[in-house]
Amino acid sequence: MFNLEIFDLKLNTEIIGRNFVYTEEIDSTNSFLLNKSNKFNTDGTVLLAEKQNKGHGRKDRVWYSNKEQNLTFSILITNKKFLKDKFNLLNFAASLSVALAIENLYQLKTELKWPNDVLVNGKKIAGILLESISQGSKIEKLVIGIGLNVNQVMFQGNFNIPPTSIKFELNEPVDRERLLAELLNTFEELLEKVEHSPSDIMKDWKSRCWLIGEKISIIENEKVKYGIFDDLDDDGFLLLKNKGKIEKIHFGDVSLA
Ligand code: BTN
Repeated sequence: MFNLEIFDLKLNTEIIGRNFVYTEEIDSTNSFLLNKSNKFNTDGTVLLAEKQNKGHGRKDRVWYSNKEQNLTFSILITNKKFLKDKFNLLNFAASLSVALAIENLYQLKTELKWPNDVLVNGKKIAGILLESISQGSKIEKLVIGIGLNVNQVMFQGNFNIPPTSIKFELNEPVDRERLLAELLNTFEELLEKVEHSPSDIMKDWKSRCWLIGEKISIIENEKVKYGIFDDLDDDGFLLLKNKGKIEKIHFGDVSLA
């Protein structure tokens, strides 16, 4: 059971998570908040579910998470200043806030796998999925869905990268309330930077970026490409170097070649 009072005591934000919705079971926190027929429009609303029946990740992959052990939640963004051209930066701010919360509270070293996974000891501890709905060409609502493995230690399913959790790495159970509050506090701080100093976010992200400078393979639209992971550009796209040429990659699954 998630203790709302403990969480509330630790939350220092002004906007993010001030409207907090807790539910035992839902299809998907992302899908629910995005649904036009629901009443939630307040910027920064956080929906936390103890169990998702249709939790999903990138490329429609299933997001597996045991009931009441982890954090599966979505943050709703309706503030227009973030809805125009800040998609990539919000994605980076979200994964960076997960990484910073884990580092600050548990002193675990994290790495960030482009574009939006958080790794500890080469294993995936969290995944992020941004989704939005539009009216004409205007994005109306955006949700940042985060699945963070906290106290689960056994994982079933097929995984590209082996999963892990904070408890697995620390060998002790973790207080989910403190962790979620720290993560949301950090995310709100990073939102300031999304607006005023995006290069700081990119710098901190790159310093944790998995495989940067290494020979990689990347699957983009079923096509495998090879090269050196040269850099990320200012918009967060991956720059792949091959035979002296740089190619900009917009999305894909990165692996060590
Ligand atoms: C990925 O690794 O591909 C992203 C996983 C994102 C999972 C989270 S759990 C909360 C939110 N609701 C969903 O259905 N998905 C995201």
